[in-house]
Amino acid sequence: MKRPLASEIPTLIPFEPNSGIPFYKQIYNGYRTAILSGQLRPGQRLPSTRTLAVELGISRLPVVNAFEQLLHEGYVEGKSGAGTYVKDTIPDEFARPVLERRLEFKKPLEPADTLEEIVGPFRVSLPALDQFPNKIWSRLVSRHAKNLSVELMTYGDPSGYLPLREAIAQYLNTSRAVRCEANQILIVSGSQMALHICARALLKPGDAVCIEDPAYPGARDALRSTSATLLPIPLDEQGIDINRIALQKKGARAVYVTPSHQYPLGLTMTASRRLELLDWARRNKSWIIEDDYDSEYRYTSRPVGSLQGMDTASRVIYIGTFSRVVFPSLRLGYLVVPIELFNEFRSLRETLDIFSPTLYQLVLTDFLQEGHFSRHLRRMRVTYLDRRNAFLKALSDHLGKYLTPYNTDAGLHLSAFLPVGIDDREIVRKAAEHGVSATALSTCYARKHSRSGLILGFGGANERRIRAAAQHSVK
Ligand SMILES: Cc1ncc(COP(=O)(O)O)c(C=O)c1O
Repeated sequence: MKRPLASEIPTLIPFEPNSGIPFYKQIYNGYRTAILSGQLRPGQRLPSTRTLAVELGISRLPVVNAFEQLLHEGYVEGKSGAGTYVKDTIPDEFARPVLERRLEFKKPLEPADTLEEIVGPFRVSLPALDQFPNKIWSRLVSRHAKNLSVELMTYGDPSGYLPLREAIAQYLNTSRAVRCEANQILIVSGSQMALHICARALLKPGDAVCIEDPAYPGARDALRSTSATLLPIPLDEQGIDINRIALQKKGARAVYVTPSHQYPLGLTMTASRRLELLDWARRNKSWIIEDDYDSEYRYTSRPVGSLQGMDTASRVIYIGTFSRVVFPSLRLGYLVVPIELFNEFRSLRETLDIFSPTLYQLVLTDFLQEGHFSRHLRRMRVTYLDRRNAFLKALSDHLGKYLTPYNTDAGLHLSAFLPVGIDDREIVRKAAEHGVSATALSTCYARKHSRSGLILGFGGANERRIRAAAQHSVK
């Protein structure tokens, strides 16, 4: 089938045969306005005079007259028989700003230049997008985009692309000490979807679910979405307080934890606390939802394995994501599910958006299998260590009086406490006015008596920007 040309897609111009306004004038005004407003872009083809006359149900003459006027005034160019196109440069000076603004989108986005302008430095959850191996990734995308077979264009398996599940299982076994086979892995569109699936699979309305307090608000929202009762459980230095879980009158059907790098406080759950939690889940036949969102990056202490890997009773559902180790707009993450729950999880996943885009699953499989992923992780550990160090130094040089960083050994963000009595939401609002993005720690607490502080990302901005932003924030 012939690809439709721009000229075959009619441009909507106002045209009213009974208005009393001459036809040629309505057509001229309609196209001139469409060009000036950017509805028609430079280089875009106008329909042929014959096609337009047929579409409008009028003779060709007024259309030809209108086009000649546009040609004469320099809005369009073209030779007879070769089509009429919107000119690259147009005559009206007043139109330039609008057009130039629109044309900016034609330039490829360069993350290093534009990202911080959009979100500001210190945005939580952002990896170093300026360091991503774009060339390799583009090569893999075009490899698959060129050879996309019919089989790959049709509906995919809701569980995910099998070679990707195998590659993830291998990675998790070796790097995260997760004990799993590919048939336990369910590919999802990021860990946020994984949390929703857990909520639907594990909780009935009225069930109780324990959650770390403070916690990731997205997890709170997902777990609440099933009308389950949320039981916020405080943390001590070792992690979630098991005694407080045991004290709850309403027995909890599940508990949500981030044991490798507690979000937002950055604690690592100790081995003894992990064993206690697993023991509690085993005795109560409750589930543990382990959100392992950014454990790939640790700086000064030894890597910690997953809680799932210590579980001998199949009570843990493990969640991982490529948002921080590849990039967030990829929207690919995964669940590792005890085998007896797998079919139910798979059906629920199917009810959400059926399956994740096959093309990007293929690209990611190659990225993992060909070693690009592990090379990228190795490089990023050095980058993030440098950024973290620059960040800590900038905080102590410029903001040491106000901010006390807490647990700074892992991940791409840290929490820093503000002096008692300072409203962190107000500080975040003021920082945003200066283009500095931060998250108020108090928004992560379910209890009224929250700690006031800021959650600050250091992964997304380079060292120069980190220093400049910290200096700027003092003002
Ligand atoms: C603790 C935690 N879990 C889950 C997510 C969601 O990540 P995604 O849906 O991009 O995988 C985030 C994002 O910031 C997070 O911080």
